[in-house]
Amino acid sequence: MHRHEHHRDQTLDELRDALSAGFWDERYGGADRVWSGRPNQRLVEQVADLTPGTALDVACGEGGDAVWLAKQGWRVTAVDVSEVALGKLAAHAEDEGVGDRIKVGFYDALADPRPAGRHTFDLVTVSFLHVPLPDFPAIYRGIARAVAPGGRLLVTAHHPDDVTTGARHDHGPGLMFEPDRVLTTLGADRPDGAWEVEVADTPVREQATPEGPLLVRDTVVRLRRRT
Ligand SMILES: C[S@@+](CC[C@H](N)C(=O)[O-])C[C@H]1O[C@@H](n2cnc3c(N)ncnc32)[C@H](O)[C@@H]1O
Repeated sequence: MHRHEHHRDQTLDELRDALSAGFWDERYGGADRVWSGRPNQRLVEQVADLTPGTALDVACGEGGDAVWLAKQGWRVTAVDVSEVALGKLAAHAEDEGVGDRIKVGFYDALADPRPAGRHTFDLVTVSFLHVPLPDFPAIYRGIARAVAPGGRLLVTAHHPDDVTTGARHDHGPGLMFEPDRVLTTLGADRPDGAWEVEVADTPVREQATPEGPLLVRDTVVRLRRRT
């Protein structure tokens, strides 16, 4: 059975350390890809019915999502705290023939929660950026500000159920989150607010592991900014 041992909760400083350039540059520093290079299933599902325009991929990593979006016709800006990851992404984009459709940029969510200054996009997507609870509102509000009127915000994350089922451990309480946290943080739970809730779901998928397939649950939120 795939079950993680209990880990002690980490302090806020330790959790923030795991959001630093040094931590992620080291993680991405090896010769191989850390992630699969393929796009996230939830992104593929949620973008299928959208007309390509401008997209911002926040915490893009090596760019499986960004490269896929570019191939679908989106003009992509991809940002991350790890310059090492951004370098790999740029190389991957060139290899795939979409280098001219993707711009990369440095973004440290803890230093400035707005990922692209004053620029706005038709689609802002953020996959698996888990931040300490006290930092969540500023970071996710900052990310949401990059959505243009009529544009979409897509948030994909690990659901906290995965800790109780033993599918993965959570180093500190609150890193993983349910759709509600996104909705209440952005005021999308208010019918007269700035956002229309298009998707707020917690679907399960099968993930391959060395021990065999594992069922994991995602948080998927897709919002449209009202014009
Ligand atoms: C779990 S990975 C997800 C990568 C990618 N979105 C994906 O789904 O494959 C989390 C990403 O967040 C980035 N990250 C971590 N801390 C960050 C920060 N303070 N600001 C911006 N990005 C950060 C990491 O470099 C890493 O690429």
